[in-house]
Amino acid sequence: MRAVTISPQASGGKLAVSDVPAPRPGVGEVLIENVSAGVNRADLLQRAGKYPPPAGAPPWPGLEVAGSVRETGPGVSGVSVGDRVVALLEGGGYADLVVARAAQTLPAPDGVDLVDAAALPEAVCTAWTNLVDTARVRPGEWVLIHGGSGGVGTIAVQLAAALGAHVIATAGGPERAERVRALGADAVVDHRREDFVAAVRAATHGRGADVVLDVLGGRALPDNVRALAHHGRLVVIGLQQGRRGELDLSALMAKRATVTGTTLRSRTPQEKAQIVAAVREHVWPLIAAGRVRPVVHARLPLADAEAALATLERGEAFGKVLLVP
Ligand SMILES: NC(=O)c1ccc[n+]([C@@H]2O[C@H](COP(=O)([O-])OP(=O)(O)OC[C@H]3O[C@@H](n4cnc5c(N)ncnc54)[C@H](OP(=O)(O)O)[C@@H]3O)[C@@H](O)[C@H]2O)c1
Repeated sequence: MRAVTISPQASGGKLAVSDVPAPRPGVGEVLIENVSAGVNRADLLQRAGKYPPPAGAPPWPGLEVAGSVRETGPGVSGVSVGDRVVALLEGGGYADLVVARAAQTLPAPDGVDLVDAAALPEAVCTAWTNLVDTARVRPGEWVLIHGGSGGVGTIAVQLAAALGAHVIATAGGPERAERVRALGADAVVDHRREDFVAAVRAATHGRGADVVLDVLGGRALPDNVRALAHHGRLVVIGLQQGRRGELDLSALMAKRATVTGTTLRSRTPQEKAQIVAAVREHVWPLIAAGRVRPVVHARLPLADAEAALATLERGEAFGKVLLVP
């Protein structure tokens, strides 16, 4: 089969389509014939040698796919050969075939093109577990979503709105801001021209955001804490502005606020299975109802994996970039 392998000896890692042996599903696993693979920022880090895949995962990138089940391993129930599925992976999605844990697959959602469905697993699981499990967003609360135009952000905006929250999102530039507003944000901050703390205070009549879902990290930390309401929860999921930031503990104490962070990839299979099951129960109906939909910036052939990553690196994508084998 074909896979997009990384030559680590090349500076920054170089991607090329190579012939590799086809994998076989083990206990509790399924073999998926991919029609599409989602591209993520983690893949950029992996290509640069800074985010090695966990033990047992294929060495090529790809955290999510959509396709049809070609084979099931021993002990698999609830997933059958021929089923159209999406899967959350530890790696290996940039290929014709991939092995996934059956518990990390979901039926391809009704009403969504199977290729576009590969845009869902990573973003939906990330948005769900951080907004609901970690931040415990409640209807009527105000949620600030940084990077509302991104792969995760486009889903998080729609999901937070569907959960009954008021959404403020950031986007870079007026055209991207308008598109984020169309996804259901009550207010959008063009971060190139506006101060998000002031915008949050204006939208909430000075109260602040109950929840901040942050893809920036380091340098944004002081402003994120300033933007929080009393009992606010800041959940850091990305480090686009660095891994270290200054935390004003007195502000945190005065607001009785919480600062936390999570990653999806490093969680145990059991935790991922729980997240996937919750997504199936709570988010899949929202997708079937058209209240949450994948936002796809581009579909590119597997051979254009370098161009796909470059689109992400340049910050051009609105939503997800997909690779189509
Ligand atoms: N922790 C986890 O489990 C987890 C899971 C998935 C992803 N992530 C991380 O979450 C982050 C977002 O992922 P993604 O897939 O959504 O990436 P993406 O599609 O590349 O989106 C990144 C977003 O950040 C925005 N952005 C860039 N610079 C900004 C700035 N200075 N101020 C405000 N916004 C800025 C960009 O939009 P504009 O240019 O429109 O502002 C873009 O919407 C990445 O760092 C990724 O690694 C974490």
